[in-house]
Amino acid sequence: MRVAAFWTWVLLGCFMGMGCAQAPLSMLPPQGPGAAGIADLWWVLFWATGIPAVAVILFTLFLFLRRRRPDPDRLVVGDDAFIIGGGILLPAAVIAILLTTSVRTGGEVAHPSREPALTIDVIGHQFWWEVRYPAHQITTANEIHVPAGEPVRLRLASADVIHSFWVPRLHGKIDTVPGKVNTFWIEADRPGAYRGQCAEFCGVQHALMGFWVVASPRASFEAWLADHRRPAAEPATEAARRGRAVFEDAGCSVCHVVQGHTDPTAGQTAGPDFTHLARRRTLGAARLPNDREALAGWIQDPHAFKPGVRMPATALAPGDLHDLLDYLEGLR
Ligand code: CUA
Repeated sequence: MRVAAFWTWVLLGCFMGMGCAQAPLSMLPPQGPGAAGIADLWWVLFWATGIPAVAVILFTLFLFLRRRRPDPDRLVVGDDAFIIGGGILLPAAVIAILLTTSVRTGGEVAHPSREPALTIDVIGHQFWWEVRYPAHQITTANEIHVPAGEPVRLRLASADVIHSFWVPRLHGKIDTVPGKVNTFWIEADRPGAYRGQCAEFCGVQHALMGFWVVASPRASFEAWLADHRRPAAEPATEAARRGRAVFEDAGCSVCHVVQGHTDPTAGQTAGPDFTHLARRRTLGAARLPNDREALAGWIQDPHAFKPGVRMPATALAPGDLHDLLDYLEGLR
């Protein structure tokens, strides 16, 4: 029985350890200089706390196995050197090392190694992320495109409550606070897609407030910028043209902007910008893949996928839904 329990814990530990390396939300292995500093600190903490923990467990086991009948004369044995050394000096030294290491790491990862050339505004909403490129007049959502190998400055704000912006493979967490702008930075060593997540409880759908950071080589990133500066494509088919009218009639345009199609003076920010919706990887802040089937399900009943989401369900006739999907899929 005890042997079984022992191996269960060992296996459990192994599975948890594997999770550290494989899960997209793991900060191990780091993929950027900010996360690398934090990961180094993580390992210092791991060893500085792991070794004493194992030593104490082994020592306790040793005493347990060697236990004898209590001898009243030996119950109170004061070994001053052991108590002062092991109980005061050793913990003090370990804590001092941990404190200086964490303060040093905090200073090192606070700023990038060079001045960022690009600034992106990220605004937390219940329960999605608005992403703006102020120098390029681009607005998108739940997907932050950056050039790989370069630091990028982020200015973080909130439209409602406190959220926390976190891309574990690229850097630590930073809160988005109503009425305040926090400055932060991220950098990805290599091209790739890095999962991000809201890390501060912000309401019922906090757990599904995800996003992606997509890092590309400079040239591809420039192409992405050029593509996304364009206003929305005109509907290419008759069905898509009808879908554009459905978009207005069903009230989608009250919350969602389509640059070039919706009223530019209305200033909607209640929902994500749809100008290039079809280019994005996900729907509902990384909740669903961005394909026709998921989009249809989301429009009809977003609460089935994300209970408590701010978007209302929209009842549409099958023909209208088909046309609307044609229109939205043309927003590339
Ligand atoms: Cu936003 Cu949690």
